[in-house]
Amino acid sequence: MKIAVLPGDGIGPEIVAQAVKVLDRLKADGLKIEMEYAPIGGAGYEAAGDPLPEATLKLSQEADAVLLGAVGDWKYDTLPRDQRPERGLLRIRKGLNLFANLRPALLYPELASASTLKPEVVSGLDLMIVRELTGDIYFGQPRGISTLENGEREGINTMRYNESEIRRIGRVAFDIAMKRNKKVCSVDKANVLETTELWRQVMIELAKEYPEVELSHMYVDNAAMQLVRAPKQFDVMVTGNIFGDILSDEASMLTGSIGMLPSASLDANNKGMYEPSHGSAPDIAGKDVANPLATILSVAMMFKYTFNDEASFNRIDNAVKKVIAAGYRTADIWTEGTQKTSCSAMGDAVVSAL
Ligand code: IPM
Ligand code: MG
Repeated sequence: MKIAVLPGDGIGPEIVAQAVKVLDRLKADGLKIEMEYAPIGGAGYEAAGDPLPEATLKLSQEADAVLLGAVGDWKYDTLPRDQRPERGLLRIRKGLNLFANLRPALLYPELASASTLKPEVVSGLDLMIVRELTGDIYFGQPRGISTLENGEREGINTMRYNESEIRRIGRVAFDIAMKRNKKVCSVDKANVLETTELWRQVMIELAKEYPEVELSHMYVDNAAMQLVRAPKQFDVMVTGNIFGDILSDEASMLTGSIGMLPSASLDANNKGMYEPSHGSAPDIAGKDVANPLATILSVAMMFKYTFNDEASFNRIDNAVKKVIAAGYRTADIWTEGTQKTSCSAMGDAVVSAL
C-alpha cells in the first residue's frame, strides 16, 4: 500500500502527523504500508512556486492512495488565482480524476450536545453526501473576469454537466445506498437551471437499474432547509459540485463539529484521496489544539474504499469510538465534564485504543 502523504498548510501537518501515527501502528502490526511526503497548497508554493508541484502530482498518481491534510492560508489570498493553495486542491482532484466525493455526516451519541441543534433532531443521524467533484461551475468554461465595451467588468462562470458525468456519480450514490438504507435523495435546482434539469432526468433513468432503491428529488434551497429541520429523513444525498460543497458544510455542523468528519474522493477504480472535510484553520495552526479525528477517520475510509480492508477500517473506527466514549475531547467538541485533549494527545489516545 503506497500512500502519498500531503500535509499541506495550517493545521494540516499536525493533524496528518496523528493519522500517520495510526498508520505506523498498523504497519508495526504487519500491514505493508509505504508512505512518501510531498508539499501541496501554500507549502507547494513555498517549495516550488506552484500549489501543486509536478513532483507532487506524479507521486500522487503513482501512489495507491493519497492522504491530504488541508490547504490554504490567508497570507496567500493576494497571490494570482493560479498560485493560490485552493488551486492545488482543485488541480489534484482533476488530475487524479477524483469525481466522487463521499462526505459522511455521522453523529457520535456522546457528541449530541456539541451540536447546535436539539439532540432529538440529530441523535442517530447517519447521512452520506455524495458530491460530484470534477465538474460543474467549479471547472466549466468559459470563466473569468473581463471588461465589457462600456468599461464595466463582468465575472463569468459556467455551470455544465454532461450525461456521462451525471450517470457515473449517480451510480456511486446508488451503489452506496444499496449497502445502506436504500434511499437516494438527488439535490438539484431543476426549476431554474437546465444543467440540473438534465441531472434530474439522468437520475430518473439510472434509478430503473436500481429497483430496490427509493429515489427522491429535492431542490437545493429546500434541501438546505430540510437538513436543519429534519436531517434524519436522509440516507444518501447525491448532488453536484457547488451544491455539495455548501450542503456538506451544513451537514457537518449537525454532528457537532466539522472536526469529526472524514472524506474520500474516488476515481473510477476506487483509487482515492482521503482528507478531513474541514479546512486548514490557520488561526489555530501550530497550537496543538486541532481535532485530528477527521483525518484519522479519513485513514479508516482509505482502508474501506481503496484497500478493501474492512477489518482495518473497523479497527480504526472502533478506536475512535473508544476514545470518544472515554471522554477525550479536543477543544471543538469539548463540553463540561469531559477531558480537554490536545491534538497530539488525541492521536496518542487513538493509537493506544488501537
Ligand atoms: C471543500 C473546500 C474546497 C471546495 C475549496 C478549499 C476549494 O471548500 O473541499 O469543500 O470548494 O471544494
Ligand atoms: Mg467546502
